[in-house]
Amino acid sequence: MFITVEGIEGSGKSTLIAGLAGKLQECGLPCLVTREPGGCGLGADLRRILLESARRLDDRAELFLFLADRAQHVAEVIRPALSRGEWVICDRYADSTVAYQGYGRGMDPAMLQSASSAAADGLAPGLTFLLDLPAEEGLRRARLRNLAEGTEASEGRFEAEELAFHERVRTGFLKLAEMEPSRFAVLDARRPPRELLALAMERLGASFPTVLKTC
Ligand code: TYD
Repeated sequence: MFITVEGIEGSGKSTLIAGLAGKLQECGLPCLVTREPGGCGLGADLRRILLESARRLDDRAELFLFLADRAQHVAEVIRPALSRGEWVICDRYADSTVAYQGYGRGMDPAMLQSASSAAADGLAPGLTFLLDLPAEEGLRRARLRNLAEGTEASEGRFEAEELAFHERVRTGFLKLAEMEPSRFAVLDARRPPRELLALAMERLGASFPTVLKTC
């Protein structure tokens, strides 16, 4: 089963993912947690280039670096894990490309969908959690986290974008969720982490009844 978690910066994806992976493992279901960009060896190098705040990238160059990361990640990490029968939970995937490069940067969403699908060799998630919250709140949380972790200088290229950019990205995610209601579960990221995890597990059980049977 391939699950993705999406949302703007500071939406709490890592906390939800850690909770979900913990629950699946408790239930004896092997689970691989990974992320984009940076979920494979090549991706770690690309991630550094993509997120360096001092780096100026042309929009198309940025897009193709994210897609190169996805192609290698799917081939090297995600597909092999799925073939081994593992669950894969990925922090960001194709919807981030449409939301950030499409709604954020202004590139054509339809072109992005097909370019991303080509990079991923057609691999799409069965379920996507969208953690939704106002952009202002998300940015505030992300900046606090970066200060605490000391990552601001090295990985702040997207966080440094203006508020309007993040508002467009949020709108983009919500539009994607509206277009594919059966794949998306939209969660209000302002709710406490425990509640979010419970809601996500409920949805997981509804989408994959085997989980309910095993857990
Ligand atoms: P990351 O530190 O992983 O952000 P977060 O902690 O919020 O998940 O940084 C990834 C950044 O890359 C994030 O700002 C979104 C952006 N991104 C794109 O613009 N396009 C993409 O296709 C992907 C996967 C990420």
